[in-house]
Amino acid sequence: MKFPETILHGGDYNPDQWLEYPGIIDTDFELFKKAHINTVTIGVFAWATLEPEEGRYEFAWMDDIFARAERQGMNVILATPSGAKPNWMALKYPEIRRVTPDGMRDPQKGRHNHCLTSPVYRKKVSAINEQLARRYGRHPSLALWHISNEYGGYCYCDLCMGAFQNWLKQKYGTLDALNAAYWTRFWSHTYTAWDQIRFIDSGVSALVLDWKRFMTDQCCDFIRNEMEPVRRLSPIVPVTTNLMGTHPDYDYWQIAKELDVVCWDSYPAWHDQETSFHESNAPLNAAFRHDLTRSLKGKPFLLMESTPSQTNWAAASPLLRPGMLRLASLQAMAHGADSVCYFQLRKSRGSCEQFHGAVIDHVGHGETRVFKDVASLGSSLEKLGGLVGAAIPARVAVIFDWENRWVFEASQAPVNREKHYADTVIAHYKPFWEAGVSVDVVHASADFSKYDVVVAPMLFMVSEETGARLTAFVERGGTLVTTYGVATVNETGLATLGGVPGPLRKALGIWIEEYDALPDVFRRQVQPVEGQPHGLSGLYEARHYLEMVHAEGAETLAVYGDDFYASRPALTLNRFGKGRAYHIASRNDDRFTGDFLRFLIRMLNLPRALETFLPKGVFAQSRVKEGKTFLFLLNFNGAPSQLNGKSAQVDLGSKIYTDAETHAPVQGILTLDPYGSRVLVEA
Ligand code: GLA
Ligand code: ZN
Repeated sequence: MKFPETILHGGDYNPDQWLEYPGIIDTDFELFKKAHINTVTIGVFAWATLEPEEGRYEFAWMDDIFARAERQGMNVILATPSGAKPNWMALKYPEIRRVTPDGMRDPQKGRHNHCLTSPVYRKKVSAINEQLARRYGRHPSLALWHISNEYGGYCYCDLCMGAFQNWLKQKYGTLDALNAAYWTRFWSHTYTAWDQIRFIDSGVSALVLDWKRFMTDQCCDFIRNEMEPVRRLSPIVPVTTNLMGTHPDYDYWQIAKELDVVCWDSYPAWHDQETSFHESNAPLNAAFRHDLTRSLKGKPFLLMESTPSQTNWAAASPLLRPGMLRLASLQAMAHGADSVCYFQLRKSRGSCEQFHGAVIDHVGHGETRVFKDVASLGSSLEKLGGLVGAAIPARVAVIFDWENRWVFEASQAPVNREKHYADTVIAHYKPFWEAGVSVDVVHASADFSKYDVVVAPMLFMVSEETGARLTAFVERGGTLVTTYGVATVNETGLATLGGVPGPLRKALGIWIEEYDALPDVFRRQVQPVEGQPHGLSGLYEARHYLEMVHAEGAETLAVYGDDFYASRPALTLNRFGKGRAYHIASRNDDRFTGDFLRFLIRMLNLPRALETFLPKGVFAQSRVKEGKTFLFLLNFNGAPSQLNGKSAQVDLGSKIYTDAETHAPVQGILTLDPYGSRVLVEA
């Protein structure tokens, strides 16, 4: 499969919106040159221009863009247009429009709202994709297929329900097996015919779980249908679709299997705090999602969209401060991105994205702050091209699992409002990220054997099989960290019988009898046991979840400090086989999670991008290629005042580096500008 060996720099480009404006497209291509833009993503949402009437296609405008791209030596990422359906189609074929849970057919509006099952829509998509693949599939400038746009959402039409029932028949074989797995005698919900199963009963958590698994499978099937003509007529060009980080609707571990390359659209809430970075989770949230996206295929990913300035859909979107565009872009690359692409290259004149940030603004020239920032970044990316393909070897895995999230969120439990699955996973990722320790994100059925540490935050759903694999991981010398909520249900959402954590009871050496579920404002204390510091000191605060744990062979490292459960275990360690299994029994403050996980980093001697101390708000990450280590240094402090008046200084220790862009030698103490970012190569 061919793929450009440069960092892709460009983004979504909609010349189809400007066909009646002479000179605009000429200007755009001139400006692309100036901004070192080497890639255009075209065709996203262009269906009505490509096929203005059923079966009548108009490609002249797209031919022209391909020709210009070729003349300028640019890459084209060609999107299939299925993300938005034309009016003529939606009105002629109502079945392609989604139906809501209460049975109402959507009117034609918006986008991303087609039925994934409709044979008519699949046929229409196939036909336009065949045309595109025939015409451009072997074009020398075509670098990548971009299938549709941001798949998401569910449809509840009769076609989808019928397909769901068939899916369930395949999975369970008999209604008896399904009824048993779903525990349907409860409230007399026993199914006596397959067509009684409709996704209307959100009280049955197993049904919700299967519905989301089905919708994921249906999306994979839809993607395969989209790709069939593309694979046939354009076999050497790789395929992607743009994902959305931790978006809840579909299981990205499954979607990623259909794709050659993964990419995502990243829109962090930069500058969401007035005073200082330290209160913002934007860099953390972005870092985790970059690592998650990279981990989906275990290789570099593409940043497909980001804004070069503002978005227009948040409550308020501050301008990117000087330095921030480069910092955000290099942060993505530090975690494995091989591209910096934007939404959008030219700002739309009308409709709902007319005020969303763009490389080329309505003023129409390159004499803008944003354009100059993009051009300067583009020139840097050309110098950083040697990075393409560099890997991130991680010895820590953090589990993020969509199926676990779905069944956990669907279950009605003593804690309902403050569940926070994704945030809990991210809270346990944070200390590694802060320390510059590389992390892979994995799902519960992943191969754990290549890691030293597996962290499983709120792994509520644990099958016998997953339990056995995690147990074997510990037995062979691995370090496992579980938290409150672990192994409460099996793979269909049925409660663990005979004592939680069921299949992990032996490895963890504990029995969890019950848990206290506290309203948000309540706090309880957690304190280390004397002589068992494990990095802990002083009093910590716990909230929401506090489990009542019986140690069955595990040592107690910390205890609760108050309430009727004072002195009961809050943190345990079971030495099992050659490994260690820790259990965190309560939702503790960040200081606890940080102190404890930093202790593990030290104890296990996990490699860090930089061994020296980093100032607050400064992060280091590394990527490795052919024995060469690239060190990224990222300063999220916007002013020296945020570091008590000091500038961000990084101690490079005794190593000697060169700057990856200028090749100048760098050593000793390096001062980073506000929002400054550097890439160094270890000599
Ligand atoms: C998404 C979409 C784009 C655009 C941007 C705006 O990521 O894929 O089409 O709407 O958001 O931020
Ligand atoms: Zn449907």
